[in-house]
Amino acid sequence: MLTSTGTLDPAFRVAPVDRRLFGSFVEHMGRCVYGGIYAPGDPQSDVDGYRTDVAELVRELGITVVRYPGGNFVSGYRWEDGVGPVAQRPRRLDLAWHSVETNAFGLSEFIGWTRLSGVEPMLAVNLGTRGIEAACDLVEYANHPGGTRLSDLRAAHGSAQPYGVKLWCLGNEMDGPWQIGHKTADEYGRLAAEAARAMKLVDPGIELVACGSSGRDMPTFGQWEETVLGHAFDEVDYLSLHAYYEEHDGDRGSFLASAHAMDAFIDAVIATCDAVAARKRSRRKLKLSFDEWNVWYQSRFDGAADAEWAQAPRLIEDVYSTLDAVVVGNLLMSLLRHADRVAVACLAQLVNVIAPIRSEAGVPAWRQSTFHPFALTARYAVGEVLRVEPVTPVYQTDRHGEVPVLDVVATRDPDSGAVSLFAVNRHQTEPVASTLDVRGLALTAVVDHRYLGGALDLTNSAEAPQRVVPLEGTGARLDSGRLEVAFPPASWTMLRLS
Ligand code: AHR
Repeated sequence: MLTSTGTLDPAFRVAPVDRRLFGSFVEHMGRCVYGGIYAPGDPQSDVDGYRTDVAELVRELGITVVRYPGGNFVSGYRWEDGVGPVAQRPRRLDLAWHSVETNAFGLSEFIGWTRLSGVEPMLAVNLGTRGIEAACDLVEYANHPGGTRLSDLRAAHGSAQPYGVKLWCLGNEMDGPWQIGHKTADEYGRLAAEAARAMKLVDPGIELVACGSSGRDMPTFGQWEETVLGHAFDEVDYLSLHAYYEEHDGDRGSFLASAHAMDAFIDAVIATCDAVAARKRSRRKLKLSFDEWNVWYQSRFDGAADAEWAQAPRLIEDVYSTLDAVVVGNLLMSLLRHADRVAVACLAQLVNVIAPIRSEAGVPAWRQSTFHPFALTARYAVGEVLRVEPVTPVYQTDRHGEVPVLDVVATRDPDSGAVSLFAVNRHQTEPVASTLDVRGLALTAVVDHRYLGGALDLTNSAEAPQRVVPLEGTGARLDSGRLEVAFPPASWTMLRLS
């Protein structure tokens, strides 16, 4: 059996857990909106067409903020198409996903849904085919109290009260050649800075996210961040990161180390932000918005051409396994570990499209395997993040070099003193027996011990929605300031200590 030691101590505080770390993403893509959160006429839907079973699962999942309406979709989107009387809204080609967009769902439907689901809206503006004027118009329509053409139009559309949207993305993945209206870093940096200035003139209370790279493997990674921030550093509040992970060609060892790659990605972006700050003689530590992250079997996706201009076609409805859930749980641990710099994060996406929640017409929505580590972390990662540096064996991976077998992070609620510990054993066959020194924390009992592991290929479905659920852990012992616990091979574990 492998062994590991470590220390849990309140002195190793990283930062408070920002609730916005538990965000998600709803794009007009595939069946995320239509047939996902919104399905008029379905027995599970309310009079407004919202799937109430999905909204309930969103609440159970603990989602705090939802980014909308894209994604690649936003770079060809005219927001005006999605407001006002539904019967008058145009049907359009959605060039990003080769689909037909009916616009039956738009901004006011989204705001209504955020209220039903208890989440904060985060809107993206189109900086692909459009620019500063359309972005300012949207902020005015959404947030200006009244007495102007666009704020009065919102009132005429049924909402005298402004929507009060705080968080805004300045476009989406503008570094990607696939993006409609793709730009060089200089072109985008200038546009983002100018759009940001103008949008904040409309509403000085908004917070803005500039596009970072759409992945660490992009050839322009690093240089893109540096150039964009060279233009926009003083105008924006966050820089975005996007990352999707998958198991390539059966290389499970590398896949299990995805959070190690995420750590390196975040650290590199922080270093770049701080280098730009140094050059500008600024002491500001720019915060990050990791507004798309997940496991996505992207190599199995042939592109959207399959959609053949259908309405809400089935796109990237990945079915997640126990193994995927272990990796998702570990990715969340990486985000927690960086809570001092990552202020917003969005699991992409929320329903049907690479999502923790799945729905089909006429049957109750169900939880994918990845739902579980997210829901437990969102619920119990409360208070302050504590860094844990376990002394652990390491292993070699093809993609990420040498990687620690055991990964651990913890949170502590300063009010109650309760501690939640999250751990992943990345070894595929060996358990890790771990001893943690917890004398710095007045802990007396293990009150909850759950894990995901065992049969790694199991998945959930409409017919078998409970095949993958967190299992009861056993054998954890807390005695005289020592916590002893064995982590099963290839597993994600949560322990709660009071
Ligand atoms: O989430 C699916 C797509 O992935 C998004 O539209 C895009 O931003 C990213 O490339």
